[in-house]
Amino acid sequence: MALLQIGKSRQGEIYLNGFNGVQPSISTNGNLLEEKARKILNKKAFGYIFAGAGSNQGIQNNLEAFKSYKIRSRILQGVEWPELTTNLLDLKLPYPFLFAPIGVLGLAHPKGDLELANASKITQTPMIQSNQASFSMEACAEILGNTNRWFQLYFGKSRDLVESLVNRAEISGSKAIVLTLDTTLLGWRCIDLDQAYLPFLRGLGLAQYTSDPVFRKLMQKHISTASNSTKRKLPNIFDLIQLFNSYPDTFFNNIKSKNPIKAVSTFLDIYSNPSLSWEDVKWLKTITKLPIILKGILHPEDALKAIDYGVQGIIVSNHGGRQIDQVISSLESMKTIKKTMDPSFPLILDSGIRTGIDIFIALALGAKAVCLGRPYAYALAINGHQGVIEYVQNMASELSIAMSLVGCKTIDDISENLISI
Ligand code: FNR
Repeated sequence: MALLQIGKSRQGEIYLNGFNGVQPSISTNGNLLEEKARKILNKKAFGYIFAGAGSNQGIQNNLEAFKSYKIRSRILQGVEWPELTTNLLDLKLPYPFLFAPIGVLGLAHPKGDLELANASKITQTPMIQSNQASFSMEACAEILGNTNRWFQLYFGKSRDLVESLVNRAEISGSKAIVLTLDTTLLGWRCIDLDQAYLPFLRGLGLAQYTSDPVFRKLMQKHISTASNSTKRKLPNIFDLIQLFNSYPDTFFNNIKSKNPIKAVSTFLDIYSNPSLSWEDVKWLKTITKLPIILKGILHPEDALKAIDYGVQGIIVSNHGGRQIDQVISSLESMKTIKKTMDPSFPLILDSGIRTGIDIFIALALGAKAVCLGRPYAYALAINGHQGVIEYVQNMASELSIAMSLVGCKTIDDISENLISI
Protein backbone atom coordinates (compact mmCIF):
# COMPACT_ATOMS: atom_id res chain seq x y z
CA MET A 1 0.00 0.00 0.00
CA ALA A 2 1.46 3.39 -1.02
CA LEU A 3 2.09 5.72 1.88
CA LEU A 4 -0.54 8.46 2.02
CA GLN A 5 0.80 11.96 1.60
CA ILE A 6 -0.33 14.18 4.47
CA GLY A 7 0.32 17.78 5.45
CA LYS A 8 2.91 19.71 3.54
CA SER A 9 3.86 16.68 1.45
CA ARG A 10 0.23 16.37 0.29
CA GLN A 11 0.25 20.07 -0.48
CA GLY A 12 3.46 19.66 -2.48
CA GLU A 13 2.04 16.62 -4.30
CA ILE A 14 -1.04 18.59 -5.40
CA TYR A 15 1.00 21.52 -6.71
CA LEU A 16 3.44 19.18 -8.51
CA ASN A 17 0.59 17.22 -10.08
CA GLY A 18 -0.64 20.52 -11.45
CA PHE A 19 2.51 20.64 -13.60
CA ASN A 20 1.31 17.44 -15.27
CA GLY A 21 -2.17 18.84 -15.73
CA VAL A 22 -3.62 16.68 -12.92
CA GLN A 23 -6.13 18.36 -10.61
CA PRO A 24 -7.44 16.98 -7.29
CA SER A 25 -10.51 14.81 -7.95
CA ILE A 26 -12.46 16.48 -5.17
CA SER A 27 -12.18 20.00 -3.80
CA THR A 28 -9.66 20.42 -1.00
CA ASN A 29 -12.26 22.64 0.68
CA GLY A 30 -14.60 20.34 2.60
CA ASN A 31 -17.31 23.00 2.47
CA LEU A 32 -17.56 22.76 -1.33
CA LEU A 33 -18.30 19.04 -1.65
CA GLU A 34 -22.00 19.46 -0.98
CA GLU A 35 -22.62 21.62 -4.06
CA LYS A 36 -20.70 19.26 -6.32
CA ALA A 37 -22.65 16.25 -5.00
CA ARG A 38 -25.93 18.12 -5.49
CA LYS A 39 -25.15 18.29 -9.21
CA ILE A 40 -24.24 14.61 -9.48
CA LEU A 41 -26.91 12.87 -7.42
CA ASN A 42 -30.59 12.59 -8.20
CA LYS A 43 -32.81 14.96 -6.22
CA LYS A 44 -34.21 12.36 -3.85
CA ALA A 45 -30.85 10.76 -3.06
CA PHE A 46 -29.17 14.12 -2.49
CA GLY A 47 -32.16 15.30 -0.45
CA TYR A 48 -31.95 12.30 1.85
CA ILE A 49 -28.27 12.89 2.59
CA PHE A 50 -28.55 16.65 2.88
CA ALA A 51 -31.80 16.89 4.86
CA GLY A 52 -32.00 18.21 8.38
CA ALA A 53 -35.12 18.35 10.51
CA GLY A 54 -37.66 21.11 9.80
CA SER A 55 -36.06 24.34 8.64
CA ASN A 56 -32.52 22.87 8.79
CA GLN A 57 -31.60 25.29 11.58
CA GLY A 58 -29.96 22.42 13.49
CA ILE A 59 -27.48 21.98 10.63
CA GLN A 60 -26.79 25.73 10.65
CA ASN A 61 -26.30 25.73 14.41
CA ASN A 62 -23.62 23.06 14.05
CA LEU A 63 -21.77 24.97 11.34
CA GLU A 64 -22.07 28.36 13.03
CA ALA A 65 -20.79 27.00 16.35
CA PHE A 66 -17.46 26.23 14.68
CA LYS A 67 -17.37 29.58 12.92
CA SER A 68 -17.76 31.41 16.23
CA TYR A 69 -14.24 30.34 17.28
CA LYS A 70 -10.97 31.87 16.19
CA ILE A 71 -7.50 30.38 16.31
CA ARG A 72 -4.86 32.08 18.50
CA SER A 73 -1.61 30.82 17.07
CA ARG A 74 1.78 30.76 18.76
CA ILE A 75 5.01 31.46 16.92
CA LEU A 76 8.49 29.93 16.86
CA GLN A 77 7.42 26.55 18.20
CA GLY A 78 9.57 24.62 15.72
CA VAL A 79 6.95 22.13 14.49
CA GLU A 80 7.76 20.71 11.08
CA TRP A 81 5.97 17.34 11.10
CA PRO A 82 3.19 17.23 13.68
CA GLU A 83 2.17 13.82 15.02
CA LEU A 84 -1.50 13.16 14.24
CA THR A 85 -1.85 9.73 15.84
CA THR A 86 -4.00 9.35 18.91
CA ASN A 87 -5.44 6.64 21.14
CA LEU A 88 -9.15 6.18 21.51
CA LEU A 89 -10.35 3.39 23.81
CA ASP A 90 -8.32 0.42 22.56
CA LEU A 91 -7.68 1.86 19.11
CA LYS A 92 -4.60 3.59 17.84
CA LEU A 93 -5.86 6.05 15.22
CA PRO A 94 -3.61 7.52 12.53
CA TYR A 95 -5.72 10.70 12.63
CA PRO A 96 -8.10 11.92 15.31
CA PHE A 97 -11.23 11.00 13.35
CA LEU A 98 -13.52 8.15 12.33
CA PHE A 99 -16.21 7.82 9.68
CA ALA A 100 -19.63 8.53 11.25
CA PRO A 101 -22.24 5.85 10.64
CA ILE A 102 -24.18 6.95 7.57
CA GLY A 103 -27.06 4.77 6.46
CA VAL A 104 -28.10 4.04 2.86
CA LEU A 105 -24.69 4.94 1.40
CA GLY A 106 -25.95 3.13 -1.73
CA LEU A 107 -27.65 6.43 -2.52
CA ALA A 108 -24.25 8.13 -2.81
CA HIS A 109 -22.53 5.35 -4.74
CA PRO A 110 -23.80 1.98 -6.05
CA LYS A 111 -21.17 0.16 -3.97
CA GLY A 112 -21.69 2.49 -0.98
CA ASP A 113 -20.31 0.86 2.17
CA LEU A 114 -17.97 -1.40 0.19
CA GLU A 115 -16.25 1.63 -1.31
CA LEU A 116 -16.10 3.22 2.12
CA ALA A 117 -14.56 0.02 3.52
CA ASN A 118 -11.91 0.27 0.82
CA ALA A 119 -11.12 3.85 1.78
CA SER A 120 -11.16 2.89 5.46
CA LYS A 121 -8.62 0.15 4.87
CA ILE A 122 -6.31 2.34 2.79
CA THR A 123 -6.42 5.32 5.16
CA GLN A 124 -6.79 3.20 8.35
CA THR A 125 -9.64 5.49 9.36
CA PRO A 126 -12.16 3.32 11.24
CA MET A 127 -15.70 3.11 9.90
CA ILE A 128 -18.62 3.05 12.25
CA GLN A 129 -20.77 0.62 10.31
CA SER A 130 -24.36 1.77 10.14
CA ASN A 131 -27.30 -0.34 11.23
CA GLN A 132 -28.97 1.03 8.08
CA ALA A 133 -26.14 0.14 5.72
CA SER A 134 -26.59 -0.76 2.07
CA PHE A 135 -24.14 -3.67 2.45
CA SER A 136 -23.87 -6.06 5.39
CA MET A 137 -21.16 -5.82 8.04
CA GLU A 138 -19.82 -9.21 6.87
CA ALA A 139 -19.47 -7.99 3.28
CA CYS A 140 -17.51 -4.96 4.54
CA ALA A 141 -15.44 -7.15 6.87
CA GLU A 142 -14.15 -9.08 3.85
CA ILE A 143 -12.65 -5.88 2.50
CA LEU A 144 -11.58 -4.43 5.85
CA GLY A 145 -9.55 -7.44 7.00
CA ASN A 146 -8.09 -6.40 10.35
CA THR A 147 -8.78 -2.68 9.89
CA ASN A 148 -10.47 -1.35 13.03
CA ARG A 149 -14.20 -0.71 12.90
CA TRP A 150 -17.17 -0.23 15.23
CA PHE A 151 -20.78 -1.26 14.72
CA GLN A 152 -23.58 1.26 15.19
CA LEU A 153 -26.74 -0.23 16.61
CA TYR A 154 -30.35 0.89 16.49
CA PHE A 155 -32.17 -0.73 19.37
CA GLY A 156 -35.53 -1.54 17.79
CA LYS A 157 -38.48 -3.37 19.27
CA SER A 158 -36.97 -6.87 19.04
CA ARG A 159 -34.33 -7.73 21.64
CA ASP A 160 -33.69 -10.98 19.77
CA LEU A 161 -32.69 -8.99 16.72
CA VAL A 162 -30.49 -6.66 18.79
CA GLU A 163 -28.73 -9.66 20.27
CA SER A 164 -28.20 -11.18 16.84
CA LEU A 165 -26.79 -7.94 15.39
CA VAL A 166 -24.42 -7.50 18.33
CA ASN A 167 -23.31 -11.09 18.05
CA ARG A 168 -22.61 -10.66 14.33
CA ALA A 169 -20.70 -7.45 15.03
CA GLU A 170 -18.47 -9.32 17.47
CA ILE A 171 -17.88 -12.21 15.08
CA SER A 172 -17.21 -9.95 12.09
CA GLY A 173 -14.55 -8.00 13.98
CA SER A 174 -16.10 -4.82 15.40
CA LYS A 175 -14.16 -3.38 18.31
CA ALA A 176 -17.11 -1.56 19.93
CA ILE A 177 -20.87 -1.11 19.79
CA VAL A 178 -22.09 2.43 19.18
CA LEU A 179 -25.68 2.70 20.37
CA THR A 180 -27.46 5.61 18.70
CA LEU A 181 -30.09 7.03 21.01
CA ASP A 182 -31.41 10.12 19.25
CA THR A 183 -33.35 8.24 16.57
CA THR A 184 -35.96 6.27 18.46
CA LEU A 185 -38.17 7.65 15.69
CA LEU A 186 -37.42 9.64 12.54
CA GLY A 187 -37.16 13.42 12.77
CA TRP A 188 -39.56 15.66 10.80
CA ARG A 189 -37.44 16.00 7.67
CA CYS A 190 -39.26 18.38 5.34
CA ILE A 191 -37.01 17.78 2.33
CA ASP A 192 -37.80 14.05 2.38
CA LEU A 193 -41.44 14.62 3.32
CA ASP A 194 -41.98 17.09 0.46
CA GLN A 195 -40.66 14.49 -2.00
CA ALA A 196 -42.56 11.76 -0.14
CA TYR A 197 -39.29 9.82 -0.13
CA LEU A 198 -38.06 7.32 2.44
CA PRO A 199 -35.39 4.96 1.07
CA PHE A 200 -36.28 2.15 3.49
CA LEU A 201 -39.71 1.81 1.87
CA ARG A 202 -37.90 0.96 -1.36
CA GLY A 203 -35.95 -1.74 0.45
CA LEU A 204 -32.80 0.44 0.57
CA GLY A 205 -30.57 0.56 3.66
CA LEU A 206 -31.84 -2.76 5.02
CA ALA A 207 -28.77 -4.94 4.36
CA GLN A 208 -27.99 -5.57 8.06
CA TYR A 209 -31.58 -6.80 8.46
CA THR A 210 -32.02 -8.91 5.35
CA SER A 211 -28.72 -10.69 6.11
CA ASP A 212 -29.82 -11.47 9.66
CA PRO A 213 -31.22 -14.91 10.61
CA VAL A 214 -33.41 -13.52 13.41
CA PHE A 215 -34.83 -10.80 11.16
CA ARG A 216 -35.59 -13.36 8.47
CA LYS A 217 -37.59 -15.38 10.99
CA LEU A 218 -39.44 -12.25 12.11
CA MET A 219 -40.24 -11.52 8.46
CA GLN A 220 -42.18 -14.73 8.09
CA LYS A 221 -44.49 -13.72 10.94
CA HIS A 222 -45.37 -10.54 9.09
CA ILE A 223 -46.64 -12.17 5.91
CA SER A 224 -50.25 -11.22 6.33
CA THR A 225 -49.53 -7.58 7.26
CA ALA A 226 -47.20 -7.34 4.29
CA SER A 227 -49.60 -8.63 1.69
CA ASN A 228 -52.41 -6.46 3.07
CA SER A 229 -50.34 -3.31 2.85
CA THR A 230 -49.27 -4.03 -0.74
CA LYS A 231 -52.89 -4.40 -1.81
CA ARG A 232 -53.58 -0.88 -0.64
CA LYS A 233 -51.51 0.93 -3.28
CA LEU A 234 -49.14 -0.18 -6.02
CA PRO A 235 -45.82 1.69 -6.33
CA ASN A 236 -44.59 2.79 -9.77
CA ILE A 237 -42.63 0.33 -11.90
CA PHE A 238 -39.15 1.77 -11.16
CA ASP A 239 -39.76 1.68 -7.44
CA LEU A 240 -41.02 -1.88 -7.74
CA ILE A 241 -37.93 -3.00 -9.67
CA GLN A 242 -35.71 -1.33 -7.07
CA LEU A 243 -37.66 -2.98 -4.27
CA PHE A 244 -37.48 -6.45 -5.83
CA ASN A 245 -33.76 -6.05 -6.40
CA SER A 246 -33.15 -5.00 -2.80
CA TYR A 247 -33.35 -8.43 -1.21
CA PRO A 248 -30.32 -10.79 -1.41
CA ASP A 249 -31.84 -13.31 -3.84
CA THR A 250 -32.63 -13.33 -7.57
CA PHE A 251 -35.19 -10.86 -8.89
CA PHE A 252 -37.59 -13.64 -9.90
CA ASN A 253 -37.27 -15.51 -6.60
CA ASN A 254 -37.98 -12.23 -4.84
CA ILE A 255 -41.15 -11.71 -6.87
CA LYS A 256 -42.24 -15.26 -6.02
CA SER A 257 -41.39 -15.12 -2.30
CA LYS A 258 -42.41 -11.45 -1.81
CA ASN A 259 -39.47 -11.35 0.63
CA PRO A 260 -38.56 -7.71 -0.19
CA ILE A 261 -42.08 -6.61 0.76
CA LYS A 262 -42.02 -8.71 3.91
CA ALA A 263 -38.63 -7.24 4.83
CA VAL A 264 -39.82 -3.63 4.46
CA SER A 265 -43.01 -4.33 6.36
CA THR A 266 -41.17 -6.08 9.21
CA PHE A 267 -38.59 -3.30 9.37
CA LEU A 268 -41.33 -0.67 9.62
CA ASP A 269 -42.91 -2.61 12.48
CA ILE A 270 -39.81 -2.96 14.62
CA TYR A 271 -37.50 -0.05 13.76
CA SER A 272 -39.04 2.70 15.82
CA ASN A 273 -38.75 2.23 19.59
CA PRO A 274 -39.64 5.45 21.43
CA SER A 275 -39.99 3.63 24.75
CA LEU A 276 -36.30 2.70 24.86
CA SER A 277 -34.89 3.35 28.34
CA TRP A 278 -31.72 3.21 30.45
CA GLU A 279 -32.76 -0.31 31.43
CA ASP A 280 -32.18 -1.33 27.79
CA VAL A 281 -28.65 0.11 27.97
CA LYS A 282 -28.10 -1.96 31.11
CA TRP A 283 -29.35 -5.07 29.32
CA LEU A 284 -27.15 -4.37 26.29
CA LYS A 285 -24.13 -4.43 28.58
CA THR A 286 -25.04 -7.95 29.68
CA ILE A 287 -25.01 -9.39 26.16
CA THR A 288 -21.61 -8.17 24.97
CA LYS A 289 -18.06 -7.80 26.17
CA LEU A 290 -17.39 -5.07 23.61
CA PRO A 291 -17.13 -1.49 24.86
CA ILE A 292 -20.39 0.44 24.52
CA ILE A 293 -20.40 4.00 23.26
CA LEU A 294 -23.56 6.10 23.35
CA LYS A 295 -24.21 8.35 20.36
CA GLY A 296 -26.64 11.25 20.44
CA ILE A 297 -26.00 12.69 23.91
CA LEU A 298 -26.39 16.49 24.19
CA HIS A 299 -27.35 17.13 27.81
CA PRO A 300 -24.74 17.02 30.61
CA GLU A 301 -27.17 15.18 32.87
CA ASP A 302 -27.48 12.39 30.29
CA ALA A 303 -23.70 12.28 29.99
CA LEU A 304 -23.36 11.78 33.75
CA LYS A 305 -26.04 9.11 33.66
CA ALA A 306 -24.20 7.34 30.85
CA ILE A 307 -21.17 7.10 33.11
CA ASP A 308 -23.34 5.74 35.94
CA TYR A 309 -24.48 3.02 33.54
CA GLY A 310 -20.88 2.12 32.85
CA VAL A 311 -20.52 2.99 29.17
CA GLN A 312 -16.99 3.46 27.85
CA GLY A 313 -17.46 6.48 25.60
CA ILE A 314 -19.87 9.15 24.42
CA ILE A 315 -20.39 10.58 20.96
CA VAL A 316 -21.78 14.07 21.49
CA SER A 317 -24.07 14.43 18.50
CA ASN A 318 -27.31 15.93 17.26
CA HIS A 319 -27.31 13.54 14.29
CA GLY A 320 -26.25 16.29 11.91
CA GLY A 321 -29.37 18.31 12.75
CA ARG A 322 -31.55 15.59 11.21
CA GLN A 323 -33.67 14.85 14.26
CA ILE A 324 -34.77 18.08 15.95
CA ASP A 325 -35.01 21.48 14.29
CA GLN A 326 -33.23 24.30 16.14
CA VAL A 327 -31.36 21.75 18.22
CA ILE A 328 -28.33 22.96 20.17
CA SER A 329 -25.06 22.47 18.29
CA SER A 330 -23.01 19.42 19.19
CA LEU A 331 -19.96 21.64 19.75
CA GLU A 332 -21.74 23.86 22.29
CA SER A 333 -23.08 20.76 24.05
CA MET A 334 -19.69 19.15 24.19
CA LYS A 335 -18.16 22.21 25.79
CA THR A 336 -20.69 22.03 28.63
CA ILE A 337 -20.52 18.25 28.97
CA LYS A 338 -16.72 18.35 29.12
CA LYS A 339 -16.85 20.60 32.19
CA THR A 340 -18.99 18.12 34.12
CA MET A 341 -16.89 15.04 33.36
CA ASP A 342 -13.68 13.41 34.44
CA PRO A 343 -11.25 14.92 31.89
CA SER A 344 -9.97 11.47 30.90
CA PHE A 345 -13.43 10.21 29.83
CA PRO A 346 -13.45 9.97 26.01
CA LEU A 347 -15.82 12.36 24.28
CA ILE A 348 -16.15 12.16 20.51
CA LEU A 349 -17.58 15.16 18.71
CA ASP A 350 -19.96 14.49 15.84
CA SER A 351 -21.96 16.89 13.64
CA GLY A 352 -20.73 19.86 11.65
CA ILE A 353 -17.14 18.82 10.95
CA ARG A 354 -16.29 20.12 7.49
CA THR A 355 -12.60 21.11 7.57
CA GLY A 356 -9.33 20.38 9.34
CA ILE A 357 -9.79 23.60 11.28
CA ASP A 358 -13.13 22.32 12.63
CA ILE A 359 -11.26 19.27 13.92
CA PHE A 360 -8.69 21.53 15.57
CA ILE A 361 -11.44 23.50 17.34
CA ALA A 362 -13.25 20.36 18.50
CA LEU A 363 -10.04 18.93 19.93
CA ALA A 364 -9.18 22.26 21.56
CA LEU A 365 -12.55 22.13 23.35
CA GLY A 366 -11.84 18.68 24.69
CA ALA A 367 -12.89 16.10 22.11
CA LYS A 368 -10.66 13.03 21.99
CA ALA A 369 -11.61 12.52 18.33
CA VAL A 370 -14.33 13.56 15.89
CA CYS A 371 -16.64 11.89 13.39
CA LEU A 372 -16.52 12.86 9.74
CA GLY A 373 -20.06 13.03 8.38
CA ARG A 374 -21.87 14.17 5.23
CA PRO A 375 -18.75 15.44 3.38
CA TYR A 376 -17.34 11.91 3.10
CA ALA A 377 -20.66 10.76 1.60
CA TYR A 378 -20.38 13.60 -0.91
CA ALA A 379 -16.77 12.63 -1.69
CA LEU A 380 -18.00 9.07 -2.22
CA ALA A 381 -20.61 10.34 -4.68
CA ILE A 382 -18.02 12.43 -6.54
CA ASN A 383 -15.26 9.85 -6.92
CA GLY A 384 -15.97 6.61 -5.02
CA HIS A 385 -13.37 5.33 -2.58
CA GLN A 386 -10.68 7.50 -4.21
CA GLY A 387 -12.77 10.59 -3.38
CA VAL A 388 -13.03 9.47 0.24
CA ILE A 389 -9.28 8.79 0.44
CA GLU A 390 -8.59 12.29 -0.84
CA TYR A 391 -11.08 13.73 1.63
CA VAL A 392 -9.26 11.99 4.48
CA GLN A 393 -5.91 13.23 3.16
CA ASN A 394 -7.26 16.76 2.90
CA MET A 395 -8.73 16.78 6.40
CA ALA A 396 -5.56 15.34 7.92
CA SER A 397 -3.41 17.71 5.87
CA GLU A 398 -5.30 20.84 6.80
CA LEU A 399 -5.12 19.79 10.44
CA SER A 400 -1.43 18.98 10.16
CA ILE A 401 -0.57 22.31 8.55
CA ALA A 402 -2.66 24.19 11.12
CA MET A 403 -0.83 22.35 13.92
CA SER A 404 2.54 23.39 12.44
CA LEU A 405 1.47 27.00 12.07
CA VAL A 406 -0.14 27.20 15.51
CA GLY A 407 2.70 25.35 17.21
CA CYS A 408 1.33 21.92 18.23
CA LYS A 409 3.65 18.92 17.98
CA THR A 410 1.04 16.37 18.99
CA ILE A 411 -2.73 16.07 19.22
CA ASP A 412 -2.46 16.48 23.01
CA ASP A 413 -0.86 19.90 22.49
CA ILE A 414 -4.11 21.23 21.00
CA SER A 415 -5.69 23.09 23.90
CA GLU A 416 -8.38 25.66 24.66
CA ASN A 417 -5.60 28.19 25.16
CA LEU A 418 -5.15 28.23 21.38
CA ILE A 419 -8.66 29.34 20.47
CA SER A 420 -10.87 32.26 21.43
CA ILE A 421 -14.48 33.34 20.88
C1 FNR B 1 -26.78 9.76 9.23
N1 FNR B 1 -26.48 9.54 10.57
C2 FNR B 1 -26.65 8.30 11.10
N2 FNR B 1 -26.31 8.07 12.41
C3 FNR B 1 -26.43 6.84 12.94
O1 FNR B 1 -26.12 6.66 14.11
N3 FNR B 1 -26.87 5.81 12.16
C4 FNR B 1 -27.24 5.95 10.87
O2 FNR B 1 -27.62 5.01 10.20
C5 FNR B 1 -27.15 7.25 10.32
N4 FNR B 1 -27.53 7.48 9.04
C6 FNR B 1 -27.33 8.71 8.47
C7 FNR B 1 -27.65 8.91 7.14
C8 FNR B 1 -27.38 10.14 6.54
C9 FNR B 1 -27.68 10.32 5.09
C10 FNR B 1 -26.78 11.17 7.29
C11 FNR B 1 -26.40 12.48 6.65
C12 FNR B 1 -26.49 10.99 8.61
C13 FNR B 1 -25.90 10.61 11.37
C14 FNR B 1 -24.37 10.60 11.25
O3 FNR B 1 -23.83 9.51 11.92
C15 FNR B 1 -23.76 11.87 11.86
O4 FNR B 1 -24.25 12.00 13.16
C16 FNR B 1 -24.08 13.12 11.06
O5 FNR B 1 -23.90 12.88 9.69
C17 FNR B 1 -23.17 14.25 11.52
O6 FNR B 1 -23.53 15.46 10.96
P1 FNR B 1 -22.75 16.10 9.71
O7 FNR B 1 -21.33 16.31 10.14
O8 FNR B 1 -22.88 15.13 8.60
O9 FNR B 1 -23.48 17.37 9.43
